[in-house]
Formats: sequence, C-alpha cells, structure tokens
Amino acid sequence: MTAKRSLSGIKPTGTPHIGNYLGMIKPAIKLQEVCETFYFIADYHALTTLPNPQDVRNHSYELVATFYSLGMDTENHAFFKQSDIPEVTELTWILSCITSKGVLERAHAYKDATAKKQEINHGLFSYPVLMASDILIYDSHYVPVGKDQTQHLEMTRDMAIRFNHIYGETLVVPEALIADEVATIPGLDGRKMSKSYNNTIPLFAPEKKLRKLMMKIVTDSKTVEEPKDPETDNVFALFKLFATEEQQIDLANRYRAGNMGYGVAKQECFEVINEALQEARASYFEIREDYKKLDGILETGRDKARPVARQVINRVRDRVGL
Ligand code: ADP
Ligand code: TRP
Repeated sequence: MTAKRSLSGIKPTGTPHIGNYLGMIKPAIKLQEVCETFYFIADYHALTTLPNPQDVRNHSYELVATFYSLGMDTENHAFFKQSDIPEVTELTWILSCITSKGVLERAHAYKDATAKKQEINHGLFSYPVLMASDILIYDSHYVPVGKDQTQHLEMTRDMAIRFNHIYGETLVVPEALIADEVATIPGLDGRKMSKSYNNTIPLFAPEKKLRKLMMKIVTDSKTVEEPKDPETDNVFALFKLFATEEQQIDLANRYRAGNMGYGVAKQECFEVINEALQEARASYFEIREDYKKLDGILETGRDKARPVARQVINRVRDRVGL
C-alpha cells in the first residue's frame, strides 16, 4: 500500500516565526516519518495583498532554507512553489463553479476585511477556493495547519464532497491535523503570534536579537517579591513550549513561591528557545544564500508534485466533460 500524503502551504509574506514553526512547520516535517509529504510556498496566495516583488522572492527563499534546515527530506519528499504547478489554477476555476458566493461571504478573512471596510479584491474573496485547489490537486489525505486554518479546511472538505456528489467519486476528502498543544502560539504581547500583529519572534533570530525580544514579552506589574501565576503569564506560556517537564515544574514552583522577578524567567525562556533552535539556525545561515541549492530543492519538489497534479486534473477534466 502506498503511504498517505500530507500537504500544507505557507505564504511568503514575512520571516517565519515561532508560531509558524510550532503550529505548522514542526508537526508537518515530523509527518515525513509516516507519510509522503508535499509542502509548498503559497506565493499565489501572497499576491492578494500586492506585496513588493523582491520581498516575495526573499521570503520564498527563507522558507525553502527554513524547511531544509529543520530537517525536511527534500529528496524523498517534495518542497515546491505553488506557482510552479499551473494545474492548481486550472482546478481553482472548476471548483469556483461549484462554490456559491454565499459560502465565500462567510469566510472569516473576507468578513474581517468587510467589517474593517477594507478594499477587497477578487483574489481575497476567492482565497478559499485557491486553497481548496492546492489541497485537492494532490489527492491529499492530511493537512497539518494551525488552528486559524480550520474554516479553510472545512470549506475544502465541503468542496470535495460537493464535487463528488455532482460528478461521482473523484476527489479525496482531506482531514485537517491541528495539534491541540500548539494550536495557537502566543506572541510577545500575549495575543496570537502573527505577522499582522507585529508581536513575533523570528524563528532564526540571532542569539542577541532573541534575548532582546524575550525581554520585551509583556508581563503584569507584580514586584519581585510577590508570588506569580505561571498559568496566566506570557513568558511561561512560551517557556513551556520548549522546556522539559522537569524544567516546567521547577520554574512554575519558583513563580508561585515569589522572590523571583520576570527578568529571571525571561532569561531562562531565552535559554531553552536558543538551545532548541541553535543547530537548525546554524544550518539555515549556511544555506540561506546558496541559491543553486535552494533552486535545486524547488525544482526537485516541482518535478515530484507536478505529475500528481496532472493525474488529478485529467481525472477532473474528464468528469466535468472537458
Ligand atoms: P501569520 O498569522 O503570521 O501571517 P500565516 O498565516 O502565514 O502566519 O501562517 C502559516 C502557518 O502557521 C499556518 O498553518 C498557521 O495556522 C500557522 N500559524 C501561524 N501563526 C500561528 C500561531 N500563533 N500559533 C499556531 N500556528 C500558527
Ligand atoms: N492559507 C494558509 C495560511 O494562511 C496558507 C495555505 C495556502 C495553505 N494554501 C494552503 C495551507 C493549503 C494548507 C494547505 O497560512
């Protein structure tokens, strides 16, 4: 029996941060032990906000280097660019024709933009259809993502089910994989860590910068002497994502005992994060500017993904009468 396929995408809209890493990148890479993994740079999706073209290229290279340095086996699995697979946009059109306007009007991103009276382009409106196409074009079984992508995955499943209902069994109905403990990683201010909130810790921030960022984590104003509550503190929330159980119990006890300032907790938080990431960080900086290597990874990935996409689009075209 062939292995099931896990697929996910990430937009090249900023430097990857610890929220991306714990919520998506790390669990996604881990799946290569049991699945065939297809991961891609969602560069078409990035265009909905009209980013600077050079930024799109830079952030795309950052993503290749990131996945590679975190251990993705890019020879036996596939890491590629969404825009290298034209079948994706072809399927997007076909799925658009079975998706009602009302469904898209209920999408969170569209509703938020409407509430904020932002100008909305058609790309943003149809974002969920492109995303469904990304997933369905590779007969994907699993989609590892952070919790904020839940609605997109539900819409994708609905589109696959609807297509199969109209045209007969054609598309694989995928399953979202959302790890509870890392569903929403908090940022420096305690809100969800996100590029849009300017509260991120870049995954490969150099040591000095990382320490500086740790010192910026927002805490309450308790004095050094006062006992503190680890459960409600932003520093502890990050610390526990990287620390061993023993380290967590030890620091939590010191919070509750009092006579420990937040500065001490921040320093320890810095140490566990730095330790966990330093090896991958070194490997990242080693290949970040090796464009031959990075382009090679994308080409190998494309050559693996494209034949799968061709098979699925041929099946779909046949079903709809093209
Ligand atoms: P951002 O919100 O910073 O723009 P993206 O939307 O590019 O991040 O997210 C890429 C992936 O990382 C998605 O799978 C998303 O669910 C996950 N992710 C992003 N931020 C977090 C977070 N704070 N906690 C958990 N997962 C996250
Ligand atoms: N919408 C996802 C995000 O904002 C990125 C994405 C695009 C994606 N296509 C996908 C994720 C397909 C998983 C599968 O993070």
